[in-house]
Amino acid sequence: MTMAGVADSLLADARARIEREIDATFDRLLPVPDDARARLIEAMRYAAIGGGKRVRPLLLIATAGMYGVDRDSAVRAATAIEAIHVYSLIHDDLPCMDDDGLRRGKPTVHIAFDEATAVLAGDSLHAFAFEVLADPQTCADPFVRVDLARALGAASGAHGMAGGQMMDMVAETAEFDLHTITRLQQLKTGALLGAAVEMGAILGKVPHDGRTHLHGYARDIGLAFQIVDDLIDHEGDASIAGKAVGKDEQAGKQTFLTLLGAERAREQARLLVDQAVEHLGQHGSEADLLRAIARYIIERDH
Ligand code: IPE
Ligand code: IPE
Ligand code: MG
Ligand code: MG
Ligand code: MG
Repeated sequence: MTMAGVADSLLADARARIEREIDATFDRLLPVPDDARARLIEAMRYAAIGGGKRVRPLLLIATAGMYGVDRDSAVRAATAIEAIHVYSLIHDDLPCMDDDGLRRGKPTVHIAFDEATAVLAGDSLHAFAFEVLADPQTCADPFVRVDLARALGAASGAHGMAGGQMMDMVAETAEFDLHTITRLQQLKTGALLGAAVEMGAILGKVPHDGRTHLHGYARDIGLAFQIVDDLIDHEGDASIAGKAVGKDEQAGKQTFLTLLGAERAREQARLLVDQAVEHLGQHGSEADLLRAIARYIIERDH
């Protein structure tokens, strides 16, 4: 097999495995009660199980794997971060935000259920994430559990994803320069991708001064990831993307594309991925999965 072929099968195997594990963990931890809350838990399961690329879980698992973390711990932490991501998607699709009807190839939660259920499903997945992290089954060491919750909380709120979503809404009417767009994307998308890597390092008890290269890697793939998301919105196919495309332009939203144009944006994403891989230079084959994820981020079509 060629080098590229080896990297492809490493990634394909890792993705298939983590998809199964994430689905199984949501399934186990979210049983449908036999009472009036059933609709809420059904909506959470509808959004969380069986879909998405699972990039954040994969990043967490890949980082944790480099430091010999117990697989069950890493899978639980990966399920927690995916729960935050799924909540952010449910709310992102609401009529008051992007007003989207298609997500992961199926109707969005507020279409399949209703708006109030979608808000509550998002709220509940948000809470679920921290409940999972705080559970001793995730890690016996309470300092590690608190640090996981801190990292995920910081990446989710006003200084992370939600703050980026606010800037993204403002970007529909404001004139942002490249610096501000970069900041927006780092918060909206980069923060959670960065938390995935950080949580892997926390579980691996990697000392703070040994994480600088991981932060560099995460920062670069985070930006590249959102540039590719914007490119998919610009030139992708809804049936492949599993979500509506052309939305950013329709909303008059400022992105890397509006400032750089598609060609330069794609080139920028390529440079960022190369740079991300360079950050891993000190590692041997144990970082091959992180390298393969970086390459995948730019090659993906959905
Ligand atoms: C979409 O994220 C929203 C962004 C943060 C850009 P993903 O592209 O990871 O969506 P799924 O999880 O694969 O559906
Ligand atoms: C959403 O960004 C990022 C989130 C934090 C959910 P987008 O609005 O660009 O994501 P898509 O294109 O709908 O997946
Ligand atoms: Mg949005
Ligand atoms: Mg959206
Ligand atoms: Mg988008």
